[in-house]
Amino acid sequence: MTETPAKPVLLTGASGALGRQIAPYLAALGWTLRLTDIAPFPDALPKGSSFTRADLNDGVAILRLAEGCGMILHFGGVSVERPFEEVLGPNIRGLYHIYEAARREGARVLFASSNHSIGFHERSEKLDADCQFMPDGYYGLSKMYAEGMARLYWHKHGVESVLVRIGSCFPEPTEERMLSTWLSYGDLCRLCERATLARRTGCCVIWGASNNSRTFWGRDARALIGWTPQDSADAYASRVQGRTSGDPVVELYQGGAYTRIDYTRTAPPEKLFPV
Ligand SMILES: NC(=O)c1ccc[n+]([C@@H]2O[C@H](COP(=O)([O-])OP(=O)(O)OC[C@H]3O[C@@H](n4cnc5c(N)ncnc54)[C@H](O)[C@@H]3O)[C@@H](O)[C@H]2O)c1
Repeated sequence: MTETPAKPVLLTGASGALGRQIAPYLAALGWTLRLTDIAPFPDALPKGSSFTRADLNDGVAILRLAEGCGMILHFGGVSVERPFEEVLGPNIRGLYHIYEAARREGARVLFASSNHSIGFHERSEKLDADCQFMPDGYYGLSKMYAEGMARLYWHKHGVESVLVRIGSCFPEPTEERMLSTWLSYGDLCRLCERATLARRTGCCVIWGASNNSRTFWGRDARALIGWTPQDSADAYASRVQGRTSGDPVVELYQGGAYTRIDYTRTAPPEKLFPV
């Protein structure tokens, strides 16, 4: 018999690539899910789930959706690098609505953060979860803001958060960088399960990557929630080794191609920050 949460779980971004993996996985465990997205849910609705179309910009809709929920898995929003004005609504204002809802319900939040919040760290560095933020664009900056919001709501209101800095969550690694950053769908789904069921989480950070021997990342809070990734990009090494961009900026930094978008430097930065 698997454990089920006492209260319904709200999943935002349910119609997105990751939401469509998480929803059926948790539904198959017998969980009661409230799914939401601005786009229609493209699959058959999993058993025990309801779907409501809503914009994260609509604070009243988000408050209503979260009513009675004990956990918010927040995967909705702009998920790639976009101009500032496009990121602002869903990822900044929408995030505020999620945290206000969590505060009102006494719910925990799992936030889908990103490696792009730390993307300008060099690949030669091994980062612990308390490393300095180095966003590589407006998208990564919105993830950094969200991690700050989570800390604010923890210290001021006792709202718990599991901040998952997802690397590259795709069916399989498709380039050399992903041998370091890949997160399998299975490991992601189990992480959502553990983050929901953990007795307490406080406000903690977890590197969202499978058990990859070429990882860029070290210490985090996985032991606190009892999550151990079971998959590894290593099995794909022979297939994707050597699949690189050939661009020195892209290859220098952990954030890869995102660091190159709108990049106007002609010389690499001197190291002014301690890392
Ligand atoms: N896939 C990855 O490798 C990866 C890596 C790092 C972080 N993440 C994060 O994980 C989350 C899910 O990623 P994904 O790959 O499934 O992205 P996705 O773009 O497929 O899904 C995001 C969903 O958010 C919805 N959305 C956008 N604006 C909205 C709004 N205003 N109101 C309500 N819903 C809105 C979209 O319709 C979409 O279905 C995102 O927050 C993303 O930043 C993903």
